[in-house]
Amino acid sequence: MAEFDLAASFIPSLHKPASLLPIARHRQSLLYLIETYPVTIVVGQTGSGKTTQIPQYLEQAGWCSDGKVIAVTQPRRVAATTVAIRVAEEVGCKVGAEVGYSIRFEDVTSAATRIKFLTDGLLLREALVDPLLSRYSVIMVDEAHERSLSTDILLGVLKKILKKRPNDLRIIISSATLQAEDFLNFFKGDADAEPKVEKSDALTLDELIAQGSSNNQGADAELGGSIGRIINLEGRTYPVDILYLEKPAEDYVEKAVQTVFDIHTKEPDGDILVFLTGREEIDTAVQAISERAASLHPRAQSLMALPLYAGLSTEQQMYVFEEAPENTRKVIFSTNIAEASVTIDGIVYVVDSGYVKLRAFNPTTGIETLTATPVSKASATQRAGRAGRTKPGKCFRLYTEASFQSLEEATVPEIQRSNLAPVILQLKALGIDNIVRFDFITPPPAELVIRALELLYSLGALDDYAKLTRPLGIRMAELAVEPMMAKTLLSAPSFGCLSEILTIAAMTSLGGNIWFHHDGEKKRMESARRKFAVEEGDHLTLLNVYQAFVTKGRKEAKFCHDHYLNFKALSRAVSIRAQLKRYLERFGMNVEESLSSSNANKQPLSVGGGGGPDKGEQIRRCLTTGFFAHAAKMQPDGTFRNVAGGTVLHAHPSSLMFNRKADWVIFHEVMETGNKTFIRDVTKIEKNWLVEYAPEFYKIQR
Ligand code: CDP
Ligand code: MG
Repeated sequence: MAEFDLAASFIPSLHKPASLLPIARHRQSLLYLIETYPVTIVVGQTGSGKTTQIPQYLEQAGWCSDGKVIAVTQPRRVAATTVAIRVAEEVGCKVGAEVGYSIRFEDVTSAATRIKFLTDGLLLREALVDPLLSRYSVIMVDEAHERSLSTDILLGVLKKILKKRPNDLRIIISSATLQAEDFLNFFKGDADAEPKVEKSDALTLDELIAQGSSNNQGADAELGGSIGRIINLEGRTYPVDILYLEKPAEDYVEKAVQTVFDIHTKEPDGDILVFLTGREEIDTAVQAISERAASLHPRAQSLMALPLYAGLSTEQQMYVFEEAPENTRKVIFSTNIAEASVTIDGIVYVVDSGYVKLRAFNPTTGIETLTATPVSKASATQRAGRAGRTKPGKCFRLYTEASFQSLEEATVPEIQRSNLAPVILQLKALGIDNIVRFDFITPPPAELVIRALELLYSLGALDDYAKLTRPLGIRMAELAVEPMMAKTLLSAPSFGCLSEILTIAAMTSLGGNIWFHHDGEKKRMESARRKFAVEEGDHLTLLNVYQAFVTKGRKEAKFCHDHYLNFKALSRAVSIRAQLKRYLERFGMNVEESLSSSNANKQPLSVGGGGGPDKGEQIRRCLTTGFFAHAAKMQPDGTFRNVAGGTVLHAHPSSLMFNRKADWVIFHEVMETGNKTFIRDVTKIEKNWLVEYAPEFYKIQR
């Protein structure tokens, strides 16, 4: 085919018209199915238009009349925000107007919002106040194939809700891979799970039967077929060549960087998408590309590396969707996020490390880790598919073909490898007391359930009959933080440190993005960090940082700059704190009183102060009431052992306890990197506090 240089005289449209998306041809059948059946399963390649178009079709078809809202859930916060921004753009409104999003601690919706993107976890939370989710006419559970913990729970809850709202609620489940049958079978379930068929509607039923035979087992079309249908939007894709390594790579990050350079220098135009597992790897790779790009021939096409992971700000994430400048090839280093949740146009080459970071909870040690794990075949296939969206592509797998053959078929659903305490608490609060009999799409292993019940019991959220306690258990479920922190917050008034714990809760929920430094400033950042250090540990240090921020840093941007503090993250902490405070006030807890005590306290806790005589101890005691299960003892060699004894834990380099002496400590979280397990946000405690505040737990342990 001859290539004309049309680019000179034509300006490309901002977006590919939505009418050209694969989904457009299916608009009528989609709307018909959704109108007719309680459940519609939509299967389609990533990029076919499910997330961005379906809600718009529904809105236009009148599903938002009488003030109802369409909810679209996402397993990831990032996906919820980016997609909302995109759809608002297509609709031509501001985000938060007709189209909005809602993620934990960030609600960008208004009374005008008709299409609402939100995380699946947040929708579950909404069910606490609106048990039938009655404000929604349609709930689309997007990216269901990811089988996130909250997605699975949500599906079970929706199945229950559907029994109560068989006629006015529609559920759409969208999935990138073919697990559609599983989802439909789940909703079919036992006979009494069937919503009643409109008997008068015989004609429609006939139609259904006629229609249904194409995608369902014929037998079920008689009655069982009334629950739902599967629709397949076979999106257009181009062939993707798959290339393997001859022998395994020692360091896949390094190999990925090399491969990117090889593609850049040897392969024709087209952007590159690289799958790595997390932020650190991605930052390393981006940096390596920037450094080595300098060695490229000055007249050669340049190479622009961009990161994509959940911790980035919305603006930073948006860069990856922008077209690269002229004569520049874009390379995006991404976590699993780009596997299916977001679509980046122009990708022709995929480099797949073969790894993904997965959460795994060990019920024996009680430790949850986030570990780089080999992907499943389904994931690898999905990743490769990202290369063939606009023209034939290539996928470079940084592993051997034999390793590919030995991969699991599909990723183990999160529900089978997670700490279930938060979701069990939520289910209980939704009135689902018998967890074992709850309709799980895949049931969790018994030991995970038992472990979660034990923890909730020792936290005081459950009574001897495994019923939610009042008010403690109920309140813990309502608070938008995980159970251990919820308990800490709710214990705080009795230690006279509610204001401080509110701050600590807000700061720890930022997930370690408090510090900020440019390349080569790491040393200076470290010493800046030490200025806020409090001997007793990281939690009190976080408190110091926050105090300094609200008294000085909020007003002068220079303060944050000089102290290597992340202005955005800290501003977020202020907002999160305010939201948590509102919860507590709703419970009738007096936050004002402790605010004044925090003022009194400013002095003893201030920079380098080492904590007041009592306040610091009260805070540490209070933390112990929630985090006793995350206790560890320092060993002579400076490492820690958790209570169960088996696991060697290292203080994270960002922790004050790194290279310092301590005896017993509690920690906020555990991270496994490489073959080391790190604990982060660590604070010294006394051993006897553990028995004092968690006698049951320490009895169970023995
Ligand atoms: O949900 P699904 O993967 O089926 O597709 P989608 O996210 O609705 O994307 C449909 C189209 O919109 C794709 O061609 C994307 O390239 C485009 N899109 C975009 O350009 N920017 C976004 N933030 C989201 C989608
Ligand atoms: Mg999508």
